[in-house]
Amino acid sequence: MIKVAVCGAYGKMGKEVCAAVEDAQDMTLAAKIDIQGDGYKTIEEAKKSCNFDVVIDFTQPKSIYENALYCLKNGIKIVVGTTGLKDEEIENLKNLSNEKNTGCLIAPNFSTGAVLMMMFSQIAAKYFDNAEIIELHHNQKKDAPSGTAIKTAQMMAQAKQTFKKGNCPETETIQGSRGGTSYSDIQIHSVRMPGFMASQEVIFGSAGQTFKIRHDSTDRKCYMDGVLLAVRHVAKENDFVYGLDNLMK
Ligand SMILES: NC(=O)c1ccc[n+]([C@@H]2O[C@H](COP(=O)([O-])OP(=O)(O)OC[C@H]3O[C@@H](n4cnc5c(N)ncnc54)[C@H](O)[C@@H]3O)[C@@H](O)[C@H]2O)c1
Repeated sequence: MIKVAVCGAYGKMGKEVCAAVEDAQDMTLAAKIDIQGDGYKTIEEAKKSCNFDVVIDFTQPKSIYENALYCLKNGIKIVVGTTGLKDEEIENLKNLSNEKNTGCLIAPNFSTGAVLMMMFSQIAAKYFDNAEIIELHHNQKKDAPSGTAIKTAQMMAQAKQTFKKGNCPETETIQGSRGGTSYSDIQIHSVRMPGFMASQEVIFGSAGQTFKIRHDSTDRKCYMDGVLLAVRHVAKENDFVYGLDNLMK
């Protein structure tokens, strides 16, 4: 049995994760941690009275780095779903995970469909000169662009060093209209409004053709297979993994 603690247990994702862990035959929910509600307030507090093998974190961008640092420094394995980590923070966590020989898996998106969208985008990147990403989320999302959009751009950038930003010199008459420039000059556009949960479209273009890859999450249950896959991996291995695609090849 894998003993799991969920940090952010009373949030939208945390509640789904607790239910998924309780339903999984090979896992037990050992602790609920959240700054709100009646569970433990911190991972440190939970560790004093509970025994667990893996922490799953779905909290908020401003807390995740500290939470992950605490876990790895104390030899606690962690699965990170919370988005908003900066590149240098991810690098530091990777080094710490290796140094402490403690498993850590960070995935900007646990939905298997979204991961396939990223993998297919990486394949398509080789064959098109232009590519832009539009991500659409609910209006409570605290970071922009989404971690999924950043990870998609990183994976596409591994396949192609530069994409064309347009095909002629451009003037932005309204600042920001062309979106933000990311890896390999891929433009990312973030839409925030009620009605969406999490969607992303990757648009490729070349002379005479466009190609779109789109994924829509309509229910948070879509993340649970990926979260459980990550927990099983981290419980067994002590490596550092960034992206669920590494477990889906
Ligand atoms: N990787 C993925 O597949 C994926 C999918 C959906 C959401 N997310 C990310 O997960 C995070 C949580 O999303 P949500 O929609 O559940 O948010 P939410 O606001 O509904 O829930 C966050 C919960 O974390 C708690 N919390 C905040 N700081 C804390 C701390 N320091 N310690 C303990 N608990 C703390 C809050 O009280 C709240 O209950 C966000 O960063 C979101 O972008 C990732």
